[in-house]
Amino acid sequence: MPAEPGSVDPIAPTILLELALETAREAGALLREKLGAPREVSFKAGHNDLVTDGDRAAEALISERIRARFPDHRILAEEGATGAEVSPYRWLIDPVDGTTNFAHNVPAFAVSIGVEREGRLQAGVVYNPAADELFAAALGHGATLNGRPIAVTAVGQPEAALIGCGAISFRRHGRTIRVGRAFWTITQGCRTTGAAALDLCYVACGRFEVFCGPSLRPWDVAAGALIVREAGGAVTDFDGNPYQLDRRDILASNGALHSFALRVAQGKVSGRPSLTKRLAGLRKRGEKGKAG
Ligand code: IPD
Ligand code: CA
Ligand code: CA
Repeated sequence: MPAEPGSVDPIAPTILLELALETAREAGALLREKLGAPREVSFKAGHNDLVTDGDRAAEALISERIRARFPDHRILAEEGATGAEVSPYRWLIDPVDGTTNFAHNVPAFAVSIGVEREGRLQAGVVYNPAADELFAAALGHGATLNGRPIAVTAVGQPEAALIGCGAISFRRHGRTIRVGRAFWTITQGCRTTGAAALDLCYVACGRFEVFCGPSLRPWDVAAGALIVREAGGAVTDFDGNPYQLDRRDILASNGALHSFALRVAQGKVSGRPSLTKRLAGLRKRGEKGKAG
């Protein structure tokens, strides 16, 4: 008989983290070996939805390790690996976040492994094997990069912030929201690594102040969301509710800039007028002045 949810003794988040760390390192080594070598690439939903032999091999390895240690845990993995059917524990696996980068030998991709118990994230690891950067967190134990504690920045001025932006425009409540223009013109700029898991970790370790990520899936963000929270940051959906794994949109920040970022993500901030518009405005005012 499968165990009833809630009837299982809790496992310490650090125990779960240990397995995630070990497994992410192993899968990362496998991906690093494939980097630069010929890759088998195939397409899922379209020309820009890639999957490689690396994704499949890494996912097989990770899910095997998890099943061997916790055969009664559930698994949700991007390429379809499964575990037990009923369990309060669920592992969320993206074997390669940033597959397009990986396929093009751009060294910005990561193994992302998160684990939740009844909707509450317990542990998360994001490992970029090309940079050998290992981000990790266990609930209540803080976040680390290569074993050293990390924290979000205290930057409170949008003008001093660097933003991670998954998409520069998206549909929300039936209308197009253009976040790119607002973020680009108000802050120091926008970046995307091409891997949402890394974007989140960049907020956690203070490289970015904000990450605005529409249309993501639980395996993209589970580990990164916990890492941001444990690094002292804020993680919500675009309505400002604490982020839950069933939500598609995620907004992560250093906390100080969260309400600013939320207003941008909701389409309430249009950004500064372009330089050309500002010059045209000044010219017009000048002409009026002369005429008067
Ligand atoms: C993608 C990356 C990317 C995000 C996409 C995701 P994948 O994951 O996280 O940054 O913008 O929406 O699908 O396909 O490389 O695992
Ligand atoms: Ca992904
Ligand atoms: Ca992936």
